[in-house]
Amino acid sequence: MRKLVAGNWKMNGLRAEAAALADGIKAGLQHAPPGCDLLVCPPFTVLAAVAGMLDGSGVGVGGQTCHSERYGAHTGEVSAPMLRDADAHWVILGHSERRAEGETDATVHARVRAAVAAGLTPVVCVGETEAERVAGQANDVVARQVAGSLPHGFAGVVAYEPVWAIGTGRTPTAEDVAAMHAHVREQLVAHHGRGGTAVRILYGGSVKPGNAGVLLNLPEVGGALVGGASLSAADFLAIAHAATGPASPALSIP
Ligand code: PGA
Repeated sequence: MRKLVAGNWKMNGLRAEAAALADGIKAGLQHAPPGCDLLVCPPFTVLAAVAGMLDGSGVGVGGQTCHSERYGAHTGEVSAPMLRDADAHWVILGHSERRAEGETDATVHARVRAAVAAGLTPVVCVGETEAERVAGQANDVVARQVAGSLPHGFAGVVAYEPVWAIGTGRTPTAEDVAAMHAHVREQLVAHHGRGGTAVRILYGGSVKPGNAGVLLNLPEVGGALVGGASLSAADFLAIAHAATGPASPALSIP
């Protein structure tokens, strides 16, 4: 299965910064295209502009969330058809930073359905907190999130992101990542049958060029969801190259 490296820009990127980042990614790709799929998820305000800049580059563009309704009286929200209208083809849903602010498996489930109905591919985030891991509940928490957040016949992407590894510079051991990805795969197959075998399971949480080679080549790791390091075109592309095996000198990023 081809790997996917996705950049979650979060609430970063004024127009000039976003343009410079998209330009940097495009330029790096011309120099050395990685053998994996790439996706960037900028803030809504620059989504259409970034999609325009990356048009034809092969880099996908997505939103960072969407509402479950198509339109209506939901001040401040953005719907899945609006994301499609801005030329996004993907959307991150259920990120832990949003779950921490009130999203539940049920709301994520509703948003996933809306995203799919609008023609978007959802990247659904799951992952335990540090307290849950210490208490030995990580597998149960993630199983519950997979069961509760994904509609029947789910055909998107899942991102396993331990909450305590996000933005902290800490990562689980390679063994723990491999074990959790195997667990997520089991859950996907249990709930979605054959379709569950085709879902890419990304790892997210402090992925950097220096650790990507190990983390992204573990069994059942189908790529990465990258926060901080995706704000540097060179780091983002270095992670993409690491995802597809050791970079040859000719493929190193300037
Ligand atoms: P990080 O964020 O790479 O900065 O840890 C990952 C994420 O939140 O998706």
